Amino acid sequence: MQRTVQRLWHLRHRFISPISKAVIRSRGVETGKNLKLWGMPIVAIAAGSRVALGDSVVLTSSSRMTALAVAHPVVLRTLRPGAEILVGSDTGMSGTTVCAAISVRIGARCLFGADVIVSDTDFHPVDVVPRRHLGLPQPNCDDAVRIGDDVFIGARSVVLKGVSIGDGSVIGAGSVVTSDIPAGVIAAGSPARIIRSLREKP
Ligand SMILES: CC(C)(COP(=O)(O)OP(=O)(O)OC[C@H]1O[C@@H](n2cnc3c(N)ncnc32)[C@H](O)[C@@H]1OP(=O)(O)O)[C@@H](O)C(=O)NCCC(=O)NCCS
Repeated sequence: MQRTVQRLWHLRHRFISPISKAVIRSRGVETGKNLKLWGMPIVAIAAGSRVALGDSVVLTSSSRMTALAVAHPVVLRTLRPGAEILVGSDTGMSGTTVCAAISVRIGARCLFGADVIVSDTDFHPVDVVPRRHLGLPQPNCDDAVRIGDDVFIGARSVVLKGVSIGDGSVIGAGSVVTSDIPAGVIAAGSPARIIRSLREKP
């Protein structure tokens, strides 16, 4: 019974997926070959900004299609002209939110666990007086986020502005990444700290 339900869901997605792809393309997303959409992502692209997905990217926005389930669809949102979100080929995201005021670049073959947040802005000024009513803080190139190739980010982690994560690294579930993480390590916690190198035996 469970299997039949699963098959029916796959069948349903096979019909709906081309429509979802056409919708996100019509909203300005540049897509590569073999994009796979499980459910409909939320896409909002500011005028004069860019969202580009490489070949074979998989975006999972439906809880039926991922073991951990997702709290909401994938969100890809640029916030101002000139901003960019670039996602490398074969990267998979489940219920991930990516917001860019400047630039978020994600490499190839990355894995994003359920409900990860990646953003290159604080959205509000930190000074008390203007915080409530002013818009985005002045964008700063140092706030760009860079996530390398083959990075695995555990469920419900948050990657904050100005952070780089090196190729192949793993970020533990529920981490808050506030500063750069080098390539080839496991880092976790809030703030995320290196636990060990991936080249070492545990
Ligand atoms: C990061 C992770 C891969 C580490 O696994 P591991 O190499 O087996 O590490 P261990 O469980 O041996 O833990 C090593 C240390 O890191 C700590 N640690 C592990 N994961 C942590 C996390 N998410 N946050 C904070 N600390 C963590 C452990 O408490 C332990 O600390 P100690 O040495 O002081 O006791 C794993 O814990 C994890 O978070 N996986 C992500 C799972 C996920 O979200 N999957 C998404 C599904 S799509």
